[in-house]
Amino acid sequence: MAVSPFLFVSVIILFLFVPVSSTVDTNSTLQSIRDGDTLVSSEGKFELGFFSPGNSKNRYVGIWYHKIPTTTVIWVANRCNPIHDSSGLLTINSTGNLVLLYQDTSVVWSASSLKQARKPFLHLLDTGNLVLKDENNGSSSQESYLWQSFDYPSDTLLPGMKLGWDFRAGLKRSLTAWKSSNDPCPGKLSYGFELKPDASPEVYLLNGTAKYYRSGPWNGLRFSGVPELIANPIYNFKYVYNDHELYYMFDIKVEAELFSRIVLNETTNSRQRYAWLAGNETWGLFDSAPETDCDKYAFCGANGSCVMINNNPTCHCLKGFKPRSEEKWGSSDWSGGCVRNTPMICHDKEKDGFIKLDGLKLPDTTHSWVNQRLNLSECRNKCLRNCSCMAYTNFNIRGQGSGCIMWFGDLLDIRHFPLNGQTLYVRVPASELGKGNGKQRAVIIAAVVGSVSGVLLLGFCIYKIRC
Ligand SMILES: *[C@@H]1O[C@H](CO)[C@@H](O)[C@H](O)[C@H]1NC(C)=O
Ligand SMILES: *[C@@H]1O[C@H](CO)[C@@H](O)[C@H](O)[C@H]1NC(C)=O
Ligand SMILES: *[C@@H]1O[C@H](CO)[C@@H](O)[C@H](O)[C@H]1NC(C)=O
Ligand SMILES: *[C@@H]1O[C@H](CO)[C@@H](O)[C@H](O)[C@H]1NC(C)=O
Ligand SMILES: *[C@@H]1O[C@H](CO)[C@@H](O)[C@H](O)[C@H]1NC(C)=O
Ligand SMILES: *[C@@H]1O[C@H](CO)[C@@H](O)[C@H](O)[C@H]1NC(C)=O
Ligand SMILES: *[C@@H]1O[C@H](CO)[C@@H](O)[C@H](O)[C@H]1NC(C)=O
Ligand SMILES: *[C@@H]1O[C@H](CO)[C@@H](O)[C@H](O)[C@H]1NC(C)=O
Ligand SMILES: *[C@@H]1O[C@H](CO)[C@@H](O)[C@H](O)[C@H]1NC(C)=O
Repeated sequence: MAVSPFLFVSVIILFLFVPVSSTVDTNSTLQSIRDGDTLVSSEGKFELGFFSPGNSKNRYVGIWYHKIPTTTVIWVANRCNPIHDSSGLLTINSTGNLVLLYQDTSVVWSASSLKQARKPFLHLLDTGNLVLKDENNGSSSQESYLWQSFDYPSDTLLPGMKLGWDFRAGLKRSLTAWKSSNDPCPGKLSYGFELKPDASPEVYLLNGTAKYYRSGPWNGLRFSGVPELIANPIYNFKYVYNDHELYYMFDIKVEAELFSRIVLNETTNSRQRYAWLAGNETWGLFDSAPETDCDKYAFCGANGSCVMINNNPTCHCLKGFKPRSEEKWGSSDWSGGCVRNTPMICHDKEKDGFIKLDGLKLPDTTHSWVNQRLNLSECRNKCLRNCSCMAYTNFNIRGQGSGCIMWFGDLLDIRHFPLNGQTLYVRVPASELGKGNGKQRAVIIAAVVGSVSGVLLLGFCIYKIRC
């Protein structure tokens, strides 16, 4: 992996300067920390030490922002194994492993370093990454780390941290929320990539094992379900998927010191993005997911799609489909989803067609198939020839679009976006082609107008007049 010049320079700087600590005189070859002592990164951004969360008296080893007055813990070592007194000692044992000891003898937590080192030491980087390095290895590449906390995220994703998989090391880097503000042990909520053979991976927010929100597949520019992920002056974001790794990462572009984090919040059951508002001395909430009911997984059931109208979710059946139960649908119980108006008759498959739907979050890719070389018309033909193919579209929307993604079975978790939605071609029998469906279109226009310009009234009028 290429090391950015910036990382290289900052690592050199870290070696030149002695990190400052609030309570203990340490240097970059720190070997151990006792409860009461802390280690501060060289530019003073992060601090490592022992803490007690919320109203708990238990002691944990964690990392927090050194400069931010409201203690904000971004990583915890012994999440489920607290120490019940102040005897904790984080140290490197004689075989070179990072261990957390209770009363100097019992191991409460240990880091799983894969490599052996002769003279290992601990280093807290200004990125918030705690690394175990070998003094004999002058290399500043990530590969030379014996262990790093960025490989074992808690509930927080920091700039430069990878969310995803390292296939060679067999590492899955995902977020798990705290049980409560008093207990950093993993709760029910988790956030990470799910791999899918032959298909596009997606990031899911899970409540236990149940899908609660998903990012949508990467479309070359952004995740299909995160339309606000666009080029901006503050953040860079990156998606990498190859034989070695899969990850999403964000970084801060601006020179000014800016603290930004993504966190799983066990209280709101959501993934939030905060940035520190220095003038206000508070964390500003910039984004959260799920934000509306339409973001909640499969809110409209199978073959349905969700539109926000005047801040209320409304479900529609895809064109060519009708509610499985008209009665439940009428009383806003949308979970049953939609079935075809006319059953697909497969011997007539060459006569089927597709209707083009715009402005969407693409369906769940669990039962899908990707080919990056096919173009859109080849994709259409391939879908048409396979009876179980329900829909298709371009895999990558960069430029004119490229590649092919096909869906089989239920089309799940589709929603409309006022901006930056995608096009999906949904299969319908010949008999459904050409049938008008002004109602759905008008509602979509209303939602677009309403959300884009904020002129909800105008949106409502169009809705009333056209429907
Ligand atoms: C740093 O501390 C270690 C012991 O913890 C000591 O051996 C080493 O000489 C110190 N280095 C400097 C530059 O002070
Ligand atoms: C150091 O810690 C590791 C991890 O707990 C353990 O496997 C190893 O035996 C320890 N070494 C010694 C000398 O206690
Ligand atoms: C330093 O670490 C790199 C990456 O793991 C490794 O290839 C190299 O052999 C190491 N050098 C020494 C002197 O141990
Ligand atoms: C999470 O799942 C549990 C059942 O395991 C359920 O009681 C709870 O309401 C769910 N939370 C959310 C936010 O859906
Ligand atoms: C969760 O969200 C609430 C309300 O927005 C906020 O007060 C709290 O600090 C958040 N918790 C975390 C862990 O970010
Ligand atoms: C700062 O706080 C004040 C009052 O608490 C609020 O009105 C203002 O909008 C905040 N500024 C920012 C940039 O959030
Ligand atoms: C798609 O690919 C086929 C076969 O390679 C080719 O004949 C066709 O012109 C291509 N269509 C477009 C729109 O590029
Ligand atoms: C249709 O696609 C499914 C899923 O990829 C596949 O299992 C099946 O073999 C295909 N059928 C045909 C006729 O190509
Ligand atoms: C969604 O539509 C497909 C294709 O007609 C159908 O096989 C499936 O049963 C539908 N799903 C539900 C939950 O009705």
